[in-house]
Formats: sequence, structure tokens, C-alpha cells
Amino acid sequence: MSDRVLSGEATDAEQQFELSLRPQRLAQYIGQDKVKENLKIFIEAAKLRQESLDHVLLYGPPGLGKTTLAIVIANEMDVNVKMTSGPAIERPGDLAAILSSLEAGDVLFIDEIHRLPRAIEEVLYSAMEDFCLDIVVGKGPEARSIRLELPPFTLVGATTRAGALSAPLRDRFGVLSRLEYYDEQSLAEIVIRSGELFGVALDKHAAFEIARRSRGTPRIANRLLKRVRDYAQVLADGIVSTSLAEQALELLQVDPRGLDHIDHKLMQSMIERFGGGPVGLDALAASIGEERITIEDVYEPYLLQIGFIQRTPRGRIATNLCYDHFGYPQTQKE
Ligand code: ADE
Repeated sequence: MSDRVLSGEATDAEQQFELSLRPQRLAQYIGQDKVKENLKIFIEAAKLRQESLDHVLLYGPPGLGKTTLAIVIANEMDVNVKMTSGPAIERPGDLAAILSSLEAGDVLFIDEIHRLPRAIEEVLYSAMEDFCLDIVVGKGPEARSIRLELPPFTLVGATTRAGALSAPLRDRFGVLSRLEYYDEQSLAEIVIRSGELFGVALDKHAAFEIARRSRGTPRIANRLLKRVRDYAQVLADGIVSTSLAEQALELLQVDPRGLDHIDHKLMQSMIERFGGGPVGLDALAASIGEERITIEDVYEPYLLQIGFIQRTPRGRIATNLCYDHFGYPQTQKE
């Protein structure tokens, strides 16, 4: 999966690269208008009351800008942001160390919050609710619980799987915002902005071509822009025209709907081996040698979004749209 040009997950190098492209303020953040409008009001209200912002849960597919939004929130509140992730916090002491380093109003960003160990989640409840931390020190008969007062802070949690969060944790967030896939216009604006930031001469139609093939995901759009820039540098004196963008995307095996060889393999298997479904996830996963969870989290959401797959109680089915796109004669199932 890591070599997939269309993966929504960020590589380490990309995290650095994204840092240089990241909008710092709400006004620079393109798209997600509903989420922005709401946050703008909540931030303004908290500032008027001189309180910390309520805890915020950001959820949605990878690559849509959850981390960026956490940084934007901290900047708009004029506070610091500390960043960590669910799997990085192994012991209650790790959480205590982070929480006790916060200053009043700070943002604590926990990425992949659904992967927090259960014992840590429980420590987090009182930290979120009462801004205090109950930790047990010592062992056996010597063990005692001590209570640490914390400054008020804002927890911004991010997850790709809101359903995997326990109800008590979910209930402690005052703001729940779902990030949606971006439309073509917003993605093209992001590509143009990124092009300007790293000095790529880009024609407007080329930006739209990249946007169309980016699966509604800024991280993918920026990644494709980087690869297209490489082609332009070697083949066209660094100028990204529409035809060069098309040619480069063709060579990258990203089709006009933004699907790659793994999507093709998945849909081909569904149509040829399973007659277009209904087929269960496990059978489908086994047929292409992928893990069930990878299909569920990585490949399927976008195929569902563009209407190529439907979920039914008996399994997944390939839709007529999908048959058309891959050039198969239609069945009359729908
Ligand atoms: N770069 C990545 N995501 C972005 C966004 N939503 N707005 C502006 N630039 C971005």
C-alpha cells in the first residue's frame, strides 16, 4: 500500500512536505465550508468569553486535512498546539507528561484517537471533563491515587473511524465535525495554491485535470502535482500544460476518475469472479490478496462515494456506473 500514488496516508517525507504547504488560518483553508463556518463561530464565542474552546473531534477519510485544521484552530485561538497520536501514548504516565506540559487554552492534538489504549482513554475522561488527572502512583499496598490539576485545554481528536471510538469518549467532545471529500473546484484551488508555493508554472486546466484524478483528497492532489512537476522538469522545461499533465497522469496509471491499478483489480475481481456481487468483504479481500480492513478503510470509501460500489445487507455489489467505466456490458441487477 505504501507505494500507492493514490493512498490517502502520508509518508514521513510527505509530512515534511505538507508542513510547507499547510494553511495557517481559516481564511487560507480551502473547502470544508460547513466545518469552517461552525468552527469560526465557536472560536469567536470562546474568545469572547475568554475560555478555552470546547473539545473537537474531526473525523473522515485520510488526507482531508484533519491535522491542518487542528493547527489552524490553535492559530485562530492564539495558543500553542502539542501533537501526538493514539498509538504513541502507551502508558497513563505518557499522557500525564503531555497534559501537565500544557499552558492554559492550549490545543492537544491526538491523531488516530481511536487507537488509544482503553486504560488511557479512562484517564482522559476526567482530564477532558474536569481538567484534572487521577493517577495511581506506587504498587501494591503502597499504591495511592493522586489528583493533578490541569490548566483548561482543548483536545482536538482526529480519526478515520468515528464508529470505533467508545461512546463515553465520543460524548466528551463538544464539537463533532465530519470532513467530506473535496469537490473538483476546491481541489483545483488547492493545486493552484500549492503550485504557487513551490514555484510550478501551472495552467488552470492542468490544475483541474490533477484535481479530477485526486479522489477528492488534497494530500493526493499535492502528491500528483509533485509527480507531474517531475515529468514537466524532464520533458517540458518545467511548464505544466494540460496535455503534459494528462500524459504524466497516464504514465502514473491514474485514470480519469482517479482510480489506479488496485481499484481496477478490485472491481475486475468483483465483476469477473463474483458476477458483480453481492459479495462479502472477506471473499473479496482474499480474491485480491489484501486485508479486509485495508479494503474497508482505504479502497472502498472512495468507490462508494463515486457510486461504483453499493453496500447491501448481503454484501457489496458493483453498480452499472462501474460496469460502464471499466467497459463491461451491463447486467440488469440494479
Ligand atoms: N493544502 C492541503 N489542504 C488544504 C486546504 N484545505 N486548503 C488549502 N491548502 C491546503
